[in-house]
Amino acid sequence: MKRIFKNIRQLVGVWEENPVLLSGEQMNNLPVLENAWIGTENGVITGYGTMDSFPGETSYDEVIDASGRLVLPAFTDSHTHTVFPESRYGEFIDKIKGLSYEEIAAKGGGILNSARKLAQKPEEELYQQAFYFVQRMMEHGTGAVEIKSGYGLNTENELKILRVIKRLKENLPIPVKATFLGAHAVPEGLKKEDYVKTIIEEMLPEIAKENLADYVDVFCETGYFDAHDTEIILEAASKYGLKPKIHVNQFTSIGGIEVAVKHNALSVDHLEVMTEKDIQVLAQSNAIAVSLPGCSFFIHIPYTPLQQLIKHKIPFALATDFNPGSSPSYSMPMMISLACIKQRITPEQAINASTLNAAAALELSGEMGSITRGKKARLILTKPLNHYGEIPYYFGTQIVERIFV
Ligand code: NIG
Ligand code: FE
Repeated sequence: MKRIFKNIRQLVGVWEENPVLLSGEQMNNLPVLENAWIGTENGVITGYGTMDSFPGETSYDEVIDASGRLVLPAFTDSHTHTVFPESRYGEFIDKIKGLSYEEIAAKGGGILNSARKLAQKPEEELYQQAFYFVQRMMEHGTGAVEIKSGYGLNTENELKILRVIKRLKENLPIPVKATFLGAHAVPEGLKKEDYVKTIIEEMLPEIAKENLADYVDVFCETGYFDAHDTEIILEAASKYGLKPKIHVNQFTSIGGIEVAVKHNALSVDHLEVMTEKDIQVLAQSNAIAVSLPGCSFFIHIPYTPLQQLIKHKIPFALATDFNPGSSPSYSMPMMISLACIKQRITPEQAINASTLNAAAALELSGEMGSITRGKKARLILTKPLNHYGEIPYYFGTQIVERIFV
């Protein structure tokens, strides 16, 4: 199957050599071809250029006239909690009335609320709903996604979620990466130490045996799991080859970044609250920072200080954190808008953070995230737009006309 797009107003993110990961000043560089074409064969990018080098239409099975529209690499959403039982709409109203995310959790709501509902929900229903959500994500331009467990909080239900993710991997047309987040909250009726023991001695071996996870995650946060818990869980997971992608510094800074870096984390996610020392430790590591502006927006907490990350050349990605409690949006374009509007980064920085750097946060930068010959043709054709800067500008709107995966 050969396809060619012609008359593209802007072909965005064109890199001859795949740069893999951008940081600091580089993030402001988003190479574009104006009035361009791109050709694909069997889902791989075979060539591109400006229209004066257009190879003609005759040898292609499908020709797409992209006049007045843009083509860019599909987004990678590297942090989601897509397998959950149902919305927490009631807590949304509580928040409107003034309760904070933490106050709701302290009353037995939050993650524990979802865990109670999940235990009642058949695997098939969880699968159908999550499949539907990923299709909606794709309609907003997502071409690869990470999905975490974390609403099971016991062996049976954590495995249930991970098996749902495994089926999603098998049946969706985009890459899906699975992350084991048993350490999302301490389940009702258990002591934290006993639950951590269950994670290490019962869940991890079973998950490894069934090959159900690519990564491991811990919610390292006051009132959840501390740096020591995080350390022993990451230590145990490393024996099964699971790299960390962990929740750190969402509300408080308690040493999670140091532990993550020590265990060669692929990414450290959230980072709304950062001390000078946290920045220093991160700057000397290989970890990618993942900012989740939908969460800051939805639960009224600070935004990850992206200017600081840029200043210290820490590479970062944007992701949705799609989940029923702190970020019920699965739209990557919305995250790009929020990052530009609330975190004051440029459209170039935000798009790089959602394509190239986001792909790196799932170890997919060899196959996607830029317009590079030989990469997978996971592409977005936009609605009529004059410039890629209009992607964040028209915030909260549907900018995707069609996604190719
Ligand atoms: O990334 N902070 C921990 N976990 C999620 C929220 C989960 C929930 O509220 O259901 C997050 O914000
Ligand atoms: Fe999260």
